Amino acid sequence: MINILFVCLGNICRSPMAEAVFRKKVREAGLEDRIRIDSAGTGSWHIGKPPHEGTRRILKQYGIDTTGMKARQVGAEDFRDYQYIIAMDSSNVRNLEAIAPSGHGAEVRKLLDWAPNAGVTDVPDPYYTGNFEEVYKLVDEACDTLLSYIREREKV
Ligand code: 4NP
Repeated sequence: MINILFVCLGNICRSPMAEAVFRKKVREAGLEDRIRIDSAGTGSWHIGKPPHEGTRRILKQYGIDTTGMKARQVGAEDFRDYQYIIAMDSSNVRNLEAIAPSGHGAEVRKLLDWAPNAGVTDVPDPYYTGNFEEVYKLVDEACDTLLSYIREREKV
């Protein structure tokens, strides 16, 4: 199994959006039995909560279901369980590095590494900006390229 974890700060806005968008693309590619997808936050405030209303609304608009999704906090064990840990911004990467066990084998990258022409390298946080549409477009574009990258790397 190929395991991919999307990470943001609260796990209610950006990383659940990336999780749901990526899952849809994986399903459309017929790879749902090969690729496992989850998301988590570096913070603990929203553990157990569903995605933010703005994330739910924009995903529904694009025909993507969020039923049953619940926020959780990222932990050291995730570096053992996931080969790809995809952060939304640079501060998420710093927070991940602070809890990463030494010698872990996970590839920790920023999502917008797969959207080099986006004009930004961090996914803006819609919890503060209110702009969920902008985030959806960035996430959707980057997830297409990320899936191609993983298919190439993993030969699936
Ligand atoms: P996210 O957005 O990291 O994209 O889920 C945030 C959600 C909640 C908070 C910050 C960012 N918060 O401070 O509660």
